Amino acid sequence: MKFVSLLALCALGLTASAQAEDGYDLWLRYHPLEKAAASHYAAIGATVVSASHSETANVTRDELVRGLSGLLAKKVTAREAITGNGAVLFGTPENSRTIAALHLPLEKLGPEGYLIRAAVVKGKPVTVIAGSSDVGVLYGAFRFLKLIQTRASIDHIDIASAPKVKLRLLNHWDNLDGSVERGYAGSSIFKWWELPAHSSQRMVDYARANASVGINGTVLINVNASSMILTREWLSKVARLADTFRPYGIKVYLAARFSAPIEIGGLKTADPLDPEVRAWWKNKADEIYHSIPDFGGFLVKANSEGQPGPQDYGRSHADGANMMAEALAPHGGVVMWRAFVYSHEVPVDRVKQAYDEFKPLDGKFRDNVIVQVKNGPLDFQPREPFSPLFGATPATAMGMELEITKEYLGFNTHLVYLGTLWQEVLDSDTFAKGQGSTVAKVVDGTLFDKKLTLMAGVANIGSDRNWCGSIFDQANWYAFGRLAWDPEAQAKDIAADWVKMTFTDNPVFDTAAVTLMMGSRETAVNYMTPLGLAHQMGTSGHYGPGSWIDNVGRPDWNPVYYHRADAQGIGFDRSPSGSDAVSQYAPALRDRLAKVETTPKNALLWFHHVPWSQPMKSGRTLWDELVARYGQGVAEVDTMATSWAKLKPYVDTERFDITADYLRIQRRDAQLWRDASVAYFASISHLPLPAGEKAPLHSLGYYKALEYPYAPGQGTPGRKIKPPPVDDAPTP
Ligand code: GCU
Repeated sequence: MKFVSLLALCALGLTASAQAEDGYDLWLRYHPLEKAAASHYAAIGATVVSASHSETANVTRDELVRGLSGLLAKKVTAREAITGNGAVLFGTPENSRTIAALHLPLEKLGPEGYLIRAAVVKGKPVTVIAGSSDVGVLYGAFRFLKLIQTRASIDHIDIASAPKVKLRLLNHWDNLDGSVERGYAGSSIFKWWELPAHSSQRMVDYARANASVGINGTVLINVNASSMILTREWLSKVARLADTFRPYGIKVYLAARFSAPIEIGGLKTADPLDPEVRAWWKNKADEIYHSIPDFGGFLVKANSEGQPGPQDYGRSHADGANMMAEALAPHGGVVMWRAFVYSHEVPVDRVKQAYDEFKPLDGKFRDNVIVQVKNGPLDFQPREPFSPLFGATPATAMGMELEITKEYLGFNTHLVYLGTLWQEVLDSDTFAKGQGSTVAKVVDGTLFDKKLTLMAGVANIGSDRNWCGSIFDQANWYAFGRLAWDPEAQAKDIAADWVKMTFTDNPVFDTAAVTLMMGSRETAVNYMTPLGLAHQMGTSGHYGPGSWIDNVGRPDWNPVYYHRADAQGIGFDRSPSGSDAVSQYAPALRDRLAKVETTPKNALLWFHHVPWSQPMKSGRTLWDELVARYGQGVAEVDTMATSWAKLKPYVDTERFDITADYLRIQRRDAQLWRDASVAYFASISHLPLPAGEKAPLHSLGYYKALEYPYAPGQGTPGRKIKPPPVDDAPTP
């Protein structure tokens, strides 16, 4: 490249391809296309046209200018009228007479949908991006840029899209001190200390990234909430963020602590039926809406893991949720009431408790309440069956909560693409209204005709320059947005788009990277919790193996509670002869899950206590199969590392190296998982290792003594630490 043209590109802000990449630009890199690909877009002219100057129209214009000039490596300018061929015209029928005159079928796309269409205006060919609202148009603009980023054809373009889910929200588990519960990407991106005086460019880029995948709301703080956020001083900080995010169609929401009326309101009680308490919440809602007129609402974790809630006063979850909903209703706000409740004082299988609690409340919630249910009945495990609450409450709006941050899946250093995990859940058939009653149809509201729908994802975003702690974890943020827009989207298509936008459209790279991503979750399941095992991670930090742990105060926080291994076999009997958790599923599914023979192998030990000697379809016994699975997981990580190594020529050094290094960490951890788990379960089964299987490197005692008191994501508790174990591996 000649010096002069480099300078010209610098002026356009197009220097990044020459630089190392740190991941900050996520999937919105807009690097110049290769010549051949760019030629497909020759018909796109050098102007973007809009007659509107609303805040959202302005950011849409800026994004199109930035994206098109970057991708097509030419100077693109914004105009108010069409002046030449190939203009990209965007707007709504209200703010553009030209668009109104096209009589586009926008009504059926709802307030957030968009249409992208080739048209001829005053004899000039143009591309029209239209919607009923400015935000719909913004989504269309991002889609248009994505088409070019992924080198899709735009000849005779005619695309329409509308979100299937109404609330598409990130849930930040960020604390006011800047720490992030279960956060593995640095500290919080929200600089509360600097707010409201300063809101950084990062907040704008955060909003851009979210809007680019259709995310339309964010819960700013941890569900283990501090009442402080509801004080006047802190609400002014929230208002500043709301102002920054608003042009991008992103509303702010807050996690609300149930006992706030006592803690910051000076009341003696938080009883939801107490008139003073009700008045307090009403006034608080009025105060919030005064400075944030489009405030989204509250997310509440109540009577769960020690959090206060209505049951402290003998009231139900519905009483609590409805009280807050009543306060928000005049302003159009919603309450997202979490169903993640369980108690160690209740002598019932933990995975049954949320259903037991919420099923009887079906139909008792106000219209602006949605119950937010984790995808599985336990807690974001590498694999769980779907929560039986999906499909069980036809009279209640049920939203889904996914965990984007990889609390139980190796943090940021294991490469695990979650698109496949989420698709597996969404595709699951609840049989609630016969075959085809998928979880996706519960979530998008079509199964029970619900208007208030929600998909929430616990964010994996932090202050790390690459946002998510690793490059491949960005794919999980991206995939969450895409699946929230369309819960029936395919994980593989999403991965393919992300790879092209994030790295390159080179087919060698893309095929290998997508293959690596698509197998990655199953690999993690294999080396961590094969065959339906769950919650085998070390307690507190949830990093590394801990199947032997049996001494944590609450039984249901101990891995032994979940695997139930004894001399005869392993697994949790949830059949009718055990805890009967299967009875919470629709009869067609219940009957299948009740028997070992008809239970899918990947959920076997979730539902059944199975003898070690049980023959499996593979021809092996259960014990041999279990050991083989752990080893398979390790071998698969080797394959992932090898295939990544071959991709070096296609990736910049910075992103190649961090991924390669993290795969080495993952390989080390996979081996640890395999060895520690095999050592422990062998001590219970008293069975020899199958022929050809290597003995664990260390003794069981060594693994048991390992601790990770400083693993990230646990806040800053006063940690008790023990000395590390003595290395007892045989000298090589
Ligand atoms: C898990 C997680 C906690 C979190 C909780 C929740 O148990 O480990 O950190 O607070 O889920 O979803 O509320």
